[in-house]
This record gives sequence, C-alpha cells and structure tokens, in this order.
Amino acid sequence: MASVQEKLITSVTEDKTSTPLNKITVVGVGQVGMACAVSILLKELADELALVDILEDKLKGEMMDLQHGSLFLKTPKIVADKDYAVTANSRIVVITGGVRQQEGESRLNLVQRNVNVFKFIVPQVVKHSPNCTIIVVSNPVDIMSYVTWKLSGFPQHRIIGSGTNLDSARFRYLMSEKLGLHASSCHGYVLGEHGDSSVPVWSGVNVAGVGLQCLDPAIGTEKDTEGWKDVHKKVVDSAYEVIKLKGYTNWAIGFSVAELAESIVKNLSRVHPVSTMVKGMYGINNEVFLSLPCVLSGKGLVSVINQKLQDTEVCQLQKSADTLWNIQKDLKEL
Ligand SMILES: NC(=O)c1ccc[n+]([C@@H]2O[C@H](COP(=O)([O-])OP(=O)(O)OC[C@H]3O[C@@H](n4cnc5c(N)ncnc54)[C@H](O)[C@@H]3O)[C@@H](O)[C@H]2O)c1
Ligand SMILES: *[C@@H]1O[C@H](CO)[C@@H](O)[C@H](O)[C@H]1NC(C)=O
Ligand SMILES: *[C@@H]1O[C@H](CO)[C@@H](O)[C@H](O)[C@H]1NC(C)=O
Repeated sequence: MASVQEKLITSVTEDKTSTPLNKITVVGVGQVGMACAVSILLKELADELALVDILEDKLKGEMMDLQHGSLFLKTPKIVADKDYAVTANSRIVVITGGVRQQEGESRLNLVQRNVNVFKFIVPQVVKHSPNCTIIVVSNPVDIMSYVTWKLSGFPQHRIIGSGTNLDSARFRYLMSEKLGLHASSCHGYVLGEHGDSSVPVWSGVNVAGVGLQCLDPAIGTEKDTEGWKDVHKKVVDSAYEVIKLKGYTNWAIGFSVAELAESIVKNLSRVHPVSTMVKGMYGINNEVFLSLPCVLSGKGLVSVINQKLQDTEVCQLQKSADTLWNIQKDLKEL
C-alpha cells in the first residue's frame, strides 16, 4: 500500500545522495552560540545548520525551537546532537563552547579551563569535517585560536579568530554616535588583542577618505579635547559593562560572526579585522594570533593587508604578542 507521500509525490530523479554545500556548525549553544546560529539563519547562509553541546536537554530544546521556525527561514535542515557525527561535512565550524567571564573577570583568566574544553572539541570537529574553516569565538579568543590551530593541524588560513572584529564594530558604532553618521560610513580598525590591550589605529580613522587626524592631529592622543581617546576606552570597557548589566554579551558578537561566515560562504574577499597567526609580521617572533585586517574568501583567511602602523602602534602589538606568548608557552599537551 503506497503511503500518502508516495501517492502525492512522483520522483523524477534517481540521485538520492545529498552532501550539503554550505553546512555550518555551531559548537556551544549558550548565549553566544545561539546568537551566532540565529544570525546565520537570518542571513540565509547555510543549507544545513548543526548544533553541538554537552547539555543534551538544552541542545534538543534549542534545536526544536529553531526547527519550529522553519516556515520563516531558508535553511531546510537544522540538526543537533552531542555526537559530532551530526557535524559531518561542515564548510564552517563556529566554536563558542566553554566558560565565559564572570563580572569583573578578565578574558585571559579563562584560558586553562577553555583549553581543556577545546582538547575535547577540536579533534571531533576535525574528524568529521577535515576540510572546514574554523571560526573561534571562545575567550581568550586569540589564545584559543592558537590552541585550535595546534590541536587541529589545519593550515593557518583555515583558522580564524573572531578577534577584534567585535571591538572594531563597537568602535565604529561609538564613532557614528559622535559624528551622526551610520556606522558603515565610519571607518576605523581596532587591531591586536581582543580586549584589554587592543590597539586603535587612529591614523586610519576616516569618513569618505577624510582622515580625522588630518582635521585634528591631536585625535586619539592625551592632548585631544574632544574625548576621542574615550571612544577606544569605551570599546575596552564595553564587555565588562554589558556583562555587569545583563550577565553576558551575545547579540553583537552573533551578528559579527555571521558577517565573517558570509564572506566565506559567498567568496566575497572582504577585509575584516580578525585574529590570525602573526609570526614574522611587525617584528613578532613567536607563534601568536592577533587581529590584523584580513581578507576572507571561500578558501578561508587568504591574505593579510599590510597596514602602515606607527612605531607606538607596532610597540603595542609586540607587547600584546609577548603577553599572549607568556601564557601560551605554559600551556601543556598542545
Ligand atoms: N570573541 C568574542 O568577541 C566573544 C564575545 C562574547 C563572548 N565570547 C566568549 O564566548 C564563549 C561562550 O560564551 P557564552 O556567553 O555563550 O557562554 P555560555 O555559558 O552561555 O555557553 C557556553 C556553552 O558551551 C557549552 N560547553 C561547555 N563545554 C562544552 C564542550 N566540551 N563541548 C561543547 N559545548 C560545551 C556549555 O554547555 C554552554 O552551553 C565564552 O568563552 C565567552 O567569553 C567571545
Ligand atoms: C577534503 O578535500 C580533499 C581535497 O580536495 C578531498 O579529496 C576530500 O574528499 C575532502 N574530504 C571531505 C570529507 O570532504
Ligand atoms: C572566489 O573569489 C576569487 C577571488 O575573486 C576567485 O578567483 C575565485 O574564482 C572565486 N571562487 C569561486 C569558487 O567562485
């Protein structure tokens, strides 16, 4: 007896195999993971979305809740499991699993706990999606990107740390508030370490090619009376402030990760400030990940833009590199 499905539908193709073309996995379905997942769904980037976590009920609940929204989405397959087989053949894997900062806690303080989590996550990701590009979000993101690079054995172009993509977005938002222009017209890069030692490149801050330092050479320095230096200070303080107010940060990081995924899925060759292995650049001699303006395309992080930095900015980058290396060199079993 034919089923309703068989009576309703006449198949005209013999080919029953199906490998997703743009499958995206999000590891960790906490506040950040779900903000990334929802942003990726709304941007219609994936033909399949896979979620993984160790909390089985939470994971199943999040999967079902998203599936119930299928009518409003363009991602026909949403799956979830604690077994990484569910992630097989992913094009992009976003890792958000692990612990987050408590009120007043620094990102660097999380390192050993998240390294232990990554020792479990990364080999599973690699086993099931050997050709994927990994976007690392868990903090401290620059160190976790290095850890992912080591644990995965992937070439460096397939490891992207979300890095100062968020710090730069915060900077451009605050700049837009000061100037009364949309953030997309306010250009500027925050580079280096995501967080406390990030470096604002004042020489490049511009609107329509008009450098703000050409209008007022004091911008970004102590001598500036308009408080532009505070814009960067606010960027550094933002996570602490939001965590104090609502317990975590998630929406802005979610949007920003979806933007990175879009550049990869659509092969856009867009430039984003993200974390990459910087040994050999700007006089940095150790294997550390820091954010520089990087080109993201279908192959991953394919190149770095050689930005002309001032001596003080190079010093700041080198100092961040030393800070990160001093922590990394004591990490065991990588
Ligand atoms: N890079 C950035 O700009 C940025 C911004 C915000 C937050 N973060 C970081 O993102 C991470 C996640 O933050 P959150 O607010 O979502 O935390 P959260 O506690 O809400 O979620 C973390 C999730 O990871 C899961 N997890 C723990 N161990 C796991 C494992 N072995 N495998 C799979 N999943 C596991 C937990 O069960 C939980 O669901 C934190 O490290 C946080 O600091 C980074
Ligand atoms: C990964 O890419 C290689 C080289 O292009 C290919 O031979 C292999 O089948 C791919 N593996 C998977 C699981 O897609
Ligand atoms: C991706 O973009 C690059 C650079 O524009 C181009 O050379 C390449 O052919 C594109 N790849 C695909 C698969 O379209």
